[in-house]
Amino acid sequence: MKPLADRIALVTGASRGIGRAIAVRLAQDGACVGVHYRSESDKAKQTLDLIRAEGGDGFLVAADLADPAGAARLADALIGELRTRRNPPLLDILVNNAGIDDRKTIEQVSEADFDRMLQINFKSPFFLIQKLLPVMADGGRIINISSMAARLSVPTMAVYASSKAALSTLSRVLAAHLGPRGITVNAVLPGATSTDLNPITSDPQRSRAVRDTVALGRIAEPGDIAPIVAFLASPEGGWITGETIEASGGQRL
Ligand SMILES: NC(=O)c1ccc[n+]([C@@H]2O[C@H](COP(=O)([O-])OP(=O)(O)OC[C@H]3O[C@@H](n4cnc5c(N)ncnc54)[C@H](OP(=O)(O)O)[C@@H]3O)[C@@H](O)[C@H]2O)c1
Repeated sequence: MKPLADRIALVTGASRGIGRAIAVRLAQDGACVGVHYRSESDKAKQTLDLIRAEGGDGFLVAADLADPAGAARLADALIGELRTRRNPPLLDILVNNAGIDDRKTIEQVSEADFDRMLQINFKSPFFLIQKLLPVMADGGRIINISSMAARLSVPTMAVYASSKAALSTLSRVLAAHLGPRGITVNAVLPGATSTDLNPITSDPQRSRAVRDTVALGRIAEPGDIAPIVAFLASPEGGWITGETIEASGGQRL
């Protein structure tokens, strides 16, 4: 029996990068996975194809989380999908992964930059959780993809790091609040991971500099992060809640 058999999961930002790896891994573990994306429908379909190629199940759901109404739209679309699969329509696993980065120091950040980053990286996940709480299954899992940037001090990540720190703190607050329902809430903090958001391996100099700060001596791939999320989502990960788990190969220990 697969550990996530009969579970339904939503992974935001699953069209590419870390979100795709998480979606595929949760499906390998038996979950039916809602593959959320903003605009890259072809890439989201590729994620779904990867899931189905291995005999897994899933569905697509689109919403722009830069739009203040995006979280509510996503919740409504998801609940519509849940209704076609389950009565009552319950969600077991929510992975808030969608995010953007915009490397700027405090002097370079405009108010519009600030608002967009906070909207996508913090406000939309916050209100997505709020809208989905009524359909979260007791004993469910919420996993928020934060960042090592929330722990390190990188001056060019003034808003990004702050938005991720807010998401980490929210995870801890909600772990206490939702414990009585058996819902665990954790934040996973990837370190430098090779994706479109962080095309670090295309810059050998920067890549070497970052690698030198990582105990395990390399830049992560999305597949390094996904099993950690899958463990937190699994029955065996059920005694971990309120934690911020660094998934960085030991960055700046
Ligand atoms: N890569 C790293 O080094 C690293 C390190 C620490 C933390 N993280 C975090 O890990 C998460 C995934 O990052 P990644 O590196 O995998 O990024 P990525 O490859 O750029 O993928 C970003 C995903 O987020 C979605 N997204 C972006 N803007 C959105 C919006 N306005 N509305 C809805 N969805 C949106 C994208 O959808 P579309 O494809 O449709 O645009 C895509 O699926 C992020 O939260 C990031 O902050 C990454």
